[in-house]
Amino acid sequence: MKIAVSGKGGSGKTTLTGMLARIMARSGHRVLAIDADPNPNMAMAMGVPRERAETLSVIPRDMAHWEEDDNGQPFVKLQKPLAQIAAEYGVTAPDGIRLLVTGQITEAGAGCMCQPHTIARGLMANVGDWADFILTDMEAGLEHLSRGTTEHADVMLVVVEPYYRSLDTGARAAGLARALGIPNIFFVANKLRTETERQAVKELADKKGIELIALIPHDEGFPEADRLGLAPLDFAPDSPAVQEIARLAQKLEARAA
Ligand SMILES: Nc1ncnc2c1ncn2[C@@H]1O[C@H](COP(=O)(O)OP(=O)(O)OP(=O)(O)O)[C@@H](O)[C@H]1O
Ligand SMILES: [Mg+2]
Repeated sequence: MKIAVSGKGGSGKTTLTGMLARIMARSGHRVLAIDADPNPNMAMAMGVPRERAETLSVIPRDMAHWEEDDNGQPFVKLQKPLAQIAAEYGVTAPDGIRLLVTGQITEAGAGCMCQPHTIARGLMANVGDWADFILTDMEAGLEHLSRGTTEHADVMLVVVEPYYRSLDTGARAAGLARALGIPNIFFVANKLRTETERQAVKELADKKGIELIALIPHDEGFPEADRLGLAPLDFAPDSPAVQEIARLAQKLEARAA
């Protein structure tokens, strides 16, 4: 199952992706995590120690390019088999996850991020049976949808916070994901503090016809874990927010079975 995680800036995409990856890997699945944010920070959300997370390899820009098949249809070709890319540029994160980083902006004025998008698309297209779950953390915004980077995803999780602009952006992302042909699109509501917020999110999801697959409470432990350089899963494994993410992992595992 190829899962892409989308949503407005700061909604909790990276935290969610990292936690789902850890929980799925703990259940015995082979998990490939792709950090497709040009400001990559999923390693730490997964519990890779800070010193190591700061020196991760990034997949070289020439690792993927566009070609045309015999019918003139464009597709992304990887320069090396995925297993080799994972071995050469990946890092092993806690619970045996393989983590790949598709690109990083290291200097001002470095130009466009087309290549990291092409690489992310190529990885998702070519994963084959190399992993049971492939989880891709996207950059905030809609570019991965306008470019079609996530077109090979089976599942799009759109993380929304309980305020209007977040929900509105989420609904737009869901509409674009639908137009791209992604078959399963879900809202994941995050940082919920009150029953009123839960109801508001439920109503909007209903109105937009988007299934709300998880309702994750606001958890003070998450930013605290962040400050300490720990994964929330290691910091507060029994918190209600972590448990709701574990339930989401189970739902996705059940759908994949
Ligand atoms: N359920 C939650 N309760 C409280 N804080 C949370 C929750 N989920 C995430 N956070 C916090 O919100 C902040 C942003 O989270 P995160 O980096 O995962 O968001 P993001 O959507 O990936 O951001 P960006 O758009 O910058 O990539 C972090 O400090 C994180 O700890
Ligand atoms: Mg992020």
